[in-house]
Amino acid sequence: MSGKTITVKLKVWRQPAKDRAGRMVDYVAKDISTEMSFLEMLDVVNEDLIRKGEDAIAFDSDCREGICGACGCVINGVPHGPDPGTTTCQLHMRRFAEGQTITIEPWRAKAFPVLKDLTVDRTSFDRIVAAGGYISAGVGGAQDANNILVPKVLSDEAMDSAACIGCGACVAACKNAAAHLFTGAKVTHLALLPQGEPEREIRAVRMVEQMEAEGFGNCSNEGECEAVCPKLIPISNIAKLVREYTRAVWKSVGAV
Ligand code: SF4
Ligand code: FES
Repeated sequence: MSGKTITVKLKVWRQPAKDRAGRMVDYVAKDISTEMSFLEMLDVVNEDLIRKGEDAIAFDSDCREGICGACGCVINGVPHGPDPGTTTCQLHMRRFAEGQTITIEPWRAKAFPVLKDLTVDRTSFDRIVAAGGYISAGVGGAQDANNILVPKVLSDEAMDSAACIGCGACVAACKNAAAHLFTGAKVTHLALLPQGEPEREIRAVRMVEQMEAEGFGNCSNEGECEAVCPKLIPISNIAKLVREYTRAVWKSVGAV
């Protein structure tokens, strides 16, 4: 890599295991190219730690191109850091100044227990999806592409909700640790499409029930989730979730 380099001071949450106490530990990341991503900067710090025989900082990542949802930490108090619509893996060191102090912490929510350092257990999201984030479709040969017509405006809206990568930043940003934006995006995506119609009611009820069973909090319309979402999922998905849930409950008592 070429170009400008900076040295930054890090305060990183280190926690050896789920059932052990954690603390902030100071590190210096020296001569970091401003062209590096945030995770590449952590890679450099880890290489140095490993060379010294110390334990590397644990953090999650996979695609490193903003599509898998594996990465994520709270950077200077903001999930995924300072750039709107940007995952931690797509954040670049040019966003930071020479000598700046950067705090790095894991998502903090009861339903996302810390496993080690910056990694958290997000299987609660998997269980919400398993509760209703599916469709039933007949097996067999592929259908003709035009068999089920979907109006363009609805397919565009569904696609916008389907952009959720399940990173959990919305939960980390919320003072209630609510998962309504995530669950709302999943419910909205399928509620807008004819393929999602057969399980429409049961999906909304089961996913909301699972969300509550996992220990996520209630939504109080703060909007912090929308502000930090790297996929810019709008808060209107929460309104749709509430409408879908209410519709399902009313339908179950024959009110609609
Ligand atoms: S709604 Fe946004 S912040 Fe929440 S899990 Fe999906 S992509 Fe991440
Ligand atoms: S590593 Fe896949 S979204 Fe960041």
